[in-house]
Amino acid sequence: MRLFVAIHFSPEVRRVLLNAMDEIRRGARRANVTRPENLHLTLAFIGETNDIRGAREAINGIACPAFGLVVGGAGRFGDLFWAGISDNPALAALAETVQSDLRARGFAIERRPFRPHITLARQVRSDGPLRLLIPETAMTVARVSLMKSQRIGGRLTYTEVGGKELARPEET
Ligand code: 2AM
Repeated sequence: MRLFVAIHFSPEVRRVLLNAMDEIRRGARRANVTRPENLHLTLAFIGETNDIRGAREAINGIACPAFGLVVGGAGRFGDLFWAGISDNPALAALAETVQSDLRARGFAIERRPFRPHITLARQVRSDGPLRLLIPETAMTVARVSLMKSQRIGGRLTYTEVGGKELARPEET
C-alpha cells in the first residue's frame, strides 16, 4: 500500500483553502482541483510498503508538543497550484524527526529538502495568469496522521490508518 504522513487543517484554514480552490475553478480553463476531504500537508512520503505496523510505530513514537502553523500565500510547481505555510522551525523539526524515525525503521525516505505545501489543484490550464490571494490564517497542529493513498473507482482517496495526538502545552 502507498502511505504518507500528514497533518490536517482547522475548519478556519479549510475555509480559506476551499475559497482558493473556488478561485482556481473560476479562473482556470481546466483544473484537477483537490477534493476537499483530501486537503492535507505532507510531512513525509513513505510510498509503497507492506510495513504498516512499522509506520504506525514510528508515528506513535512522536514526542513533539502541539505547535502553531500559519497557512497563507500561494505558488505553483509547473501546473500544480499550492497554498503555502509561513516559515516554521517547529514544522521543519517535526518533519525531520518523522523522516529520520522512519528511516531508522528501514523505510527509504527520499532525502529531498522539505518544501511544505498544500496541493490545491493539479493540471491547471489557464488562458491568463491566475493569481491566488490566500490570507494568512493561523491554527494549532495537534495531530499527525498516517495516511493510505488509493485510487477507488478512479478517485484518489486518502484514509487515515494511524495517528498520534500531540500534547497541548497546558497538558505537558
Ligand atoms: P503533492 O501533493 O505535491 O503531489 C500523497 O501523494 C502526498 O504525498 C501528496 O502530498 C504528495 O505531494 C506527496 N508526495 C507524492 N510523491 C512524493 C514524493 N516522491 N516525495 C515527496 N512527497 C510526495
